[in-house]
Amino acid sequence: MNITIVNGTEQKGCTFAMKELFLCAMGDGHNISEYYLPRDCPVFCTGCKACFFRSIVVCPHSEYTVPIWDSILKADLLVFASPTYVFHATAQMKALLDHFGTKWMAHSPEKPMFGKQAVIVANAIGQGMGKTAGDIKDSLDFWGVARTYVIKQALFQAKWDNVSAKRKAAIGKRCEKAAAKINSKKRVTPHIKIRWLFFIMKTAQKMIDKTERKAGRESTADYRHWKDNGWLDGKKPWRDK
Ligand SMILES: Cc1cc2nc3c(=O)[nH]c(=O)nc-3n(C[C@H](O)[C@H](O)[C@H](O)COP(=O)(O)O)c2cc1C
Repeated sequence: MNITIVNGTEQKGCTFAMKELFLCAMGDGHNISEYYLPRDCPVFCTGCKACFFRSIVVCPHSEYTVPIWDSILKADLLVFASPTYVFHATAQMKALLDHFGTKWMAHSPEKPMFGKQAVIVANAIGQGMGKTAGDIKDSLDFWGVARTYVIKQALFQAKWDNVSAKRKAAIGKRCEKAAAKINSKKRVTPHIKIRWLFFIMKTAQKMIDKTERKAGRESTADYRHWKDNGWLDGKKPWRDK
């Protein structure tokens, strides 16, 4: 399996340890590409919207964002790992995800995403890991990622060495369960929520285009993307060649 990992911290701490537990459960023989934030994308989205109007390759930060997106596109499995900072994913994780807003189903999603699986690894000392996972899951769902599994845990310790053996074993079990599900899938089909989002966004594209035409404006780049893929005429990104 091709696995792309995005770490929301450069610390080799609890998040790193949980992610390693998951990788261990996945077994050997995978082709892994790994990114650490902020090192591999140390920039904020400027809001220029070049990606929305043209393409991600004209992003002023394309030297960072394009290699990561290409790796995501090539992967069978995506792993996003983040500690909780003030009840949310780390700012550097959010900064990376902002750069890929154009890949949301509300804009120009990519067909390969509808055949991918993903794992979110999130932790906190006490509270907030649900929102941390949610911050990441919003992007994965709207990119069209078919299946996403969440491994989240309150650790009640700041150092992995001090986390109890019982808690580590419980995390390990959850990692094994997620890995078993992922490895057992022969053919990945999108969860009903993803298919529902696709249907809503397809309807939205048609409505937006009607408004644009009425106002005498050209169809948007997003509309053309949906049209060119045949998705406004019955094709499904997870079914049709
Ligand atoms: C800036 C910052 C904010 C944090 N905010 C929270 C929080 O809101 N809730 C919580 O339970 N822990 C919070 N923590 C603790 C971390 O989530 C926790 O220690 C985590 O395991 C750190 O992961 P790491 O060892 O991979 O760096 C915060 C830590 C930092 C550095």
